[in-house]
Amino acid sequence: MFTIDVQAAQAADHPAIEQLLDQAFGLSRWTKTSYRLREGNTAIEGLSLVTREAGFGLTGAISFWPLKIGDAGTDALLLGPLAVHPDRQNIGIGRALMHAGLDRAKALGHRLVILVGDAPYYARVGFKKAPYGQIELPGPVDPDRLLYLELAPGSLTLAKGLALAPHRFAEISGRFLPKLRDFGDKEALNRYM
Ligand SMILES: CC(C)(COP(=O)(O)OP(=O)(O)OC[C@H]1O[C@@H](n2cnc3c(N)ncnc32)[C@H](O)[C@@H]1OP(=O)(O)O)[C@@H](O)C(=O)NCCC(=O)NCCS
Repeated sequence: MFTIDVQAAQAADHPAIEQLLDQAFGLSRWTKTSYRLREGNTAIEGLSLVTREAGFGLTGAISFWPLKIGDAGTDALLLGPLAVHPDRQNIGIGRALMHAGLDRAKALGHRLVILVGDAPYYARVGFKKAPYGQIELPGPVDPDRLLYLELAPGSLTLAKGLALAPHRFAEISGRFLPKLRDFGDKEALNRYM
């Protein structure tokens, strides 16, 4: 029987993972808003996973990143990037990586996962469109591609506002956000993102 063995990524996998992401998404991936949430951020330990094939190398990779959402700093994870080598797509690797990552995230106590991606694909593991306007990202995003999955029932309710990497949240939440929000100065707010 064909089984997909999902393993924890090793530090030595990093160059091959980057190459895989370039193959799957192209270099324009660096312009995406979700990459702004990864800048200066650190992927969650134990949730960077890969699949391999003897004689081929890496066939797939996934990672999850910590986020703080809104003034309350509600914890969430950003799923992605998820990529499967073009020569190994449509044989269940993406789904296996998602199931393994989400199961581990739940076991670690994480409550909410968001991502930017194709709703029809991610709906297969339970992702839904986030209610329009409830969660903002620090850059443009198609609202139909902003998706969420509750690992703990009801966890979306507390996630309202701007999603940021934890270090950005710590830098600006105390000093800037309340004042800029008071004045409704969205342009100024964006300059600090
Ligand atoms: C998207 C991706 C991660 C899926 O991984 P995969 O291992 O090929 O997918 P799986 O084998 O788990 O699932 C395959 C099924 O998902 C469907 N599917 C794949 N990509 C899809 C997408 N973007 N939208 C909707 N359905 C999709 C396939 O048609 C297939 O359907 P079937 O089971 O009815 O035949 C992979 O194709 C990839 O890395 N693509 C390049 C990056 C990309 O386009 N990402 C877009 C998603 S954000």
